Amino acid sequence: MVGNRKMFGPLLAGVDHIRHTHDLARNAFSRGQPEYGAELADDLERIVALHDASTIAALIVEPVAGSTGVLLPPKGYLQRLREICDKHGILLIFDEVITGFGRVGAPFAATHFGVTPDMMTVAKGLTNGTVPMGAVFAKQYIHDAFMHGPEHMIEFFHGYTYSAHPLACAAALGTLATYADEGLLTRAAKMAAPFESAVHALEGLPNVIDVRNIGLVAGIELAPIAGEPGKRAFSVFLDCWEKGLLIRTTGDTIALSPPLIIENQHIDQIVGTLADAIRHAD
Ligand SMILES: Cc1ncc(COP(=O)(O)O)c(C=O)c1O
Repeated sequence: MVGNRKMFGPLLAGVDHIRHTHDLARNAFSRGQPEYGAELADDLERIVALHDASTIAALIVEPVAGSTGVLLPPKGYLQRLREICDKHGILLIFDEVITGFGRVGAPFAATHFGVTPDMMTVAKGLTNGTVPMGAVFAKQYIHDAFMHGPEHMIEFFHGYTYSAHPLACAAALGTLATYADEGLLTRAAKMAAPFESAVHALEGLPNVIDVRNIGLVAGIELAPIAGEPGKRAFSVFLDCWEKGLLIRTTGDTIALSPPLIIENQHIDQIVGTLADAIRHAD
């Protein structure tokens, strides 16, 4: 994310990046996973050749990239990343902070795409966003690697003031119970079809250059105003806000990630308001 690098620099040392998968020329207006781009996973081989696999602990990837603009993994892409990681002994970590807890239609993106990472990071959906909380899931052997004792020592020593805060834990337990009671971890799969047809109806509106979606997530990309990137989406954001609809924009992409309890009339309301705002945007 260029904007982040420009303002904050590389932050964590010893990190390199493989290329992104955004490819409007081949994949614009895909419904669900785009057809083209599995081969982009091979960019990991470039990084391996550059640094040597023995120096690379892990690859971390969002299965569906969120704040960089709702970028779906091309068909076969995550599978290919898994294969390359296995080949070189590199751990695969999924950042499921956005995709976790039902967003893409299955409990996790890992379950939806059928690719099992070695570790997962989760947060937002863990407490339904009500209280800040994050967690890491690890395969048993990774967990066990830290559990050597001695008995009286904390094995993986670190701490934060608010680690395992009882309020956050209570919110997480309550949220997980609600997900189970109301079947919410798979509800996005049921609502995906009406959501998909509604958002793809935005194709053809002025300046809409892509619509992409999975489960209850969609990205609507607008053509930037020359010399003023982000301005067109921002004016859509303001217009929607005035009409009682909160959307999220990143660059000129509008990201929709509605509540898992959404009903058909809410989908109509969201997309109707948005269509109106896009029509009237500069
Ligand atoms: C996918 C994803 N990962 C990580 C983060 C950031 O997590 P944190 O605020 O705990 O650094 C975000 C932030 O919104 C996110 O969307």
